[in-house]
Amino acid sequence: MTQPLRLGIAGLGTVGIGVVKILRNKAGLLQQRTGRELFITAVSARDRQKDRGVAFTDYAWENDPVDLAQRDDVDVFVELMGGHDGPALEATKAALAAGKDVVTANKAMLAHFGHELATMAEEKNALIRFEAAVAGGIPVIKSLTEGLAGNRISRVMGVMNGTCNYILTQMQATGRGYDALFEECAELGYLEADPMLDVGGIDAGHKLSLLSAIAFGTRVDFTSVALEGIQHIALEDIEQADDMGYRIKLLGVAQMSDTGLEQRMSPCLVPKASPIGQLEGGTNMVVIEGDEVGRIVLGGPGAGAGPTASAVMSDIIEIARGIRISTFGQSAKTLVKSEPSSTVTPAPYYIRLRLQDKPGALAKIATVLGQEGVSIDRMRQYGHSEETAPVLIVTHKTGREALDTALQNMHKTGVLDGTPVAIRIENI
Ligand code: NAP
Ligand code: HSE
Repeated sequence: MTQPLRLGIAGLGTVGIGVVKILRNKAGLLQQRTGRELFITAVSARDRQKDRGVAFTDYAWENDPVDLAQRDDVDVFVELMGGHDGPALEATKAALAAGKDVVTANKAMLAHFGHELATMAEEKNALIRFEAAVAGGIPVIKSLTEGLAGNRISRVMGVMNGTCNYILTQMQATGRGYDALFEECAELGYLEADPMLDVGGIDAGHKLSLLSAIAFGTRVDFTSVALEGIQHIALEDIEQADDMGYRIKLLGVAQMSDTGLEQRMSPCLVPKASPIGQLEGGTNMVVIEGDEVGRIVLGGPGAGAGPTASAVMSDIIEIARGIRISTFGQSAKTLVKSEPSSTVTPAPYYIRLRLQDKPGALAKIATVLGQEGVSIDRMRQYGHSEETAPVLIVTHKTGREALDTALQNMHKTGVLDGTPVAIRIENI
């Protein structure tokens, strides 16, 4: 019979314990499906005394994940600690240097060091698999690298941060503001240790950069993802968008344009009736457009112990079956260094601003937009206080650069109260 596959698991938190439970509870099923026994040799976490609801007496314990990664009785190093550098990166490099395969859920580490790690893996004839790093339980990495490998991908987009989608959909459903829902997420334990990773769009940007690399055969380039978080989205934006037939989502889009690779993660208005518009709570959705297949829509839970451990297990099972796929679906040597696109694909924009309620104020704003070639599609003043009036403008398709210049120039008109909010309208 084929040799057992011996696992070393570093990180026994939400995901790590989820993986340990599947390995224990489904040992027979996993053996039937892979034709070999999968067992844990050793584990590592920071606090050996912590009650994790599971007994670890059957496994060796390593205080240092690097030592775990280098053990002779470990075939696959399973990195579930997190953090873009530090122990996760050190231990991953140690495992690869020792020629061991690595399974990780760590999107931050791969977004920053993906190409370096993929190159190192290839030199050592080792693997890095990371299904759980993008969109939790949704098998999007395998869809791109395997199921859709016969396609040229034109665009990948989606909602890839459950926390942001929870906040935005709860604002819509309950009429509560961003700050109250941010607090609720903190209490529910939904937020990353650094909440900016979630609400600043960084976590979702990490994920998008990994999908881009596979879709377009490029080296991971997280630093070129144009990032915008959801912190400035007000209840009135949600309400106005609803009134116009839209929902606001933190939407990631990656596409190759004439001027290079465009990667952006930002709040967008999307049609209510679209699959992404209907996405509720912590659910994720990824849309992939290929030249042969057309449009594929994948949806499901983007986080949590079960869904994420399910994705980690799919990688372990793939390795156990002897399937060996390059980190980003092709040799690291063939991944090209992409040129970040110098422009953003034009789109209509929603602009909310507050104006001093005096004659000619609106005309000044319209003039500033006109000077930059930004054409107004619709405009409405929707109620006012004694001295100021909120105004909503929807533009025709325009370049982001022209819009940004116009927004800066609005401040010089002397009729603006506060800073305008501009949100892209993505008619997907
Ligand atoms: P977590 O609950 O915070 O668990 C992290 C684990 O790593 C803990 O067991 C911790 O030990 C251990 N750890 C941290 N530093 C260590 C070190 N220096 N040496 C040894 N162990 C160390 O995190 P998680 O939610 O399971 O996330 C793990 C990874 O999965 C991250 O990369 C995350 O981004 C990714 N991910 C998570 C989810 C999710 O839903 N949670 C979804 C997708 C991807 P102690 O327990 O002793 O403190
Ligand atoms: N913080 C992430 C989210 C966890 O909210 O989607 C899963 O990657």
